[in-house]
Amino acid sequence: MRTQVGIVGAGPAGLLLSHLLHLRGVESVVIDVQERESIEQTIKAGILEQGTVDLLRQTGVGDRMMRDGFVHHGINLAFEGGLHRINLTELSGGRSVMVYAQHEVLIDLIAKRLGDGGDIRFGVTDTAVDGIDTDQPTIRFTHEGRQETLECDFVIGADGSRTMCRYLIPERRDFFRQYPFAWFGILAEAPPSSDELIYAHSERGFVLVSTRSPSVQRLYFQCDPETKVDDWSDDRIWAEFSARLGPSGATVTEGPIFKKDVLQFRSFVCEPMQYGRLFLAGDAAHTVPPTGAKGLNLAVGDVHVLDRALGAFYQSKDTGLLDSYTRTALRRVWRAQWFSFWMTSMLHRFSDASDFDLRRQIAELELVTSSPTAAKTLADNYTGLPLG
Ligand code: PHB
Repeated sequence: MRTQVGIVGAGPAGLLLSHLLHLRGVESVVIDVQERESIEQTIKAGILEQGTVDLLRQTGVGDRMMRDGFVHHGINLAFEGGLHRINLTELSGGRSVMVYAQHEVLIDLIAKRLGDGGDIRFGVTDTAVDGIDTDQPTIRFTHEGRQETLECDFVIGADGSRTMCRYLIPERRDFFRQYPFAWFGILAEAPPSSDELIYAHSERGFVLVSTRSPSVQRLYFQCDPETKVDDWSDDRIWAEFSARLGPSGATVTEGPIFKKDVLQFRSFVCEPMQYGRLFLAGDAAHTVPPTGAKGLNLAVGDVHVLDRALGAFYQSKDTGLLDSYTRTALRRVWRAQWFSFWMTSMLHRFSDASDFDLRRQIAELELVTSSPTAAKTLADNYTGLPLG
C-alpha cells in the first residue's frame, strides 16, 4: 500500500488533518488501535475555541455542531461567597466558545472522511513505524488479520497521550509537571444547573459546573488522585457539590448519575515535535490539565500548521514550513500551558496551601473579575488565539 501521508491515530488531530489534506488534494491513510464505536463513544472535554469552530465550519464539518452545540458568551468564577461573570465576547472583541463534546466532533469527522472516500483502518494491532530518517518511511500494522505495509512520504504521530510515535524521536526533551490532585467527573441526567460554566474556588477544593445538552450535565470536583469512583455514592457526590458551591449561591440540579470517572492532571510538552519525516500532533506531543479546556483545541492548532506545511511541500517542494513546524506549533502550545497552569493554580486547593496562599488566590480572582485588563487576558486566552 502507498499513500502520501500516513497518520497514526484517529483522534481529533489525525482525523482533522486527513480531512484538511483531502481538501488540498493530498492523500492520507489513518490507522487506529481502537474500533470506530469506541472512538465515537469515549467521553472527553467539550469546549471548542472560536478558531476551532470557524475551521470546522469553513471546511464543511460544522453542520451538526452549529445545530446541536451551544455558543457560550461568558463564564462564571465563584469565590468568597460570590459569583462573578466574565463576559468573554465583550472582552475578547466578539469571540465566544462552543460547548460541543469531543466525541461528537469525531463522529462528524469520521462520517465526512468516509463519505469523501477516505481510508481509515480501525482496530489495527502490531503497529510499527520505520525509516523516518529516510524520505520513504513505512507504517506496518495488522488489520482484519492481514499484515499491511503502508509506504508514505510522511508519518504523522497523532496517537494520543499513550503514543508510541513520540518515542521514535531521539534526543527528545520532555517537560513535565505533575499535580497533587485530580478531577472526579460525573455525567448526570438533569437539565443544566447554570446557563454558563461555573469555575468555583472553595476551601474544600475546586468545582466545575459544565454541561453537555439540555438534559445532560457534566460536573467535576477536585479530588485526590488515588480516589476510587466506587467510594463515592450519588448522595455523597451531590452533598460535596453543595458544600463547595453553597457559599457562592450557585446550586446544582440533581439527577441520576450515569457515569463517574477520575481524570488525572498533568502538564507535558515534548520538544522537538518532529524528527526526519515524522511529525507529532496533539496529545502525542503535549498534555494540558483540563482547567483551561485547551486539549482538543491545541490538537487543532498543530494540525492547522501541519496542513499548510504539507500543502507547501506538495505544491512547490518547499520544506520551509515543515522545518519550522516545532517552532511554530510550540508558541501556541506553551501559551496554552501557561494559561492552563494559571487557571489551575488560581482555582485549586493545593494540599500544602497555607492561609497566605488562599488569601493570595482570592486576591488574584478579585483582580481577574474587577480589572478589565486582567479579565481581557482571561477572555482572550479562553476563547483562544486566532489560528495561524
Ligand atoms: C467539560 O465540559 O468537560 C469541560 C469544560 C470546561 C473545562 C474542562 C472540561 O475547562
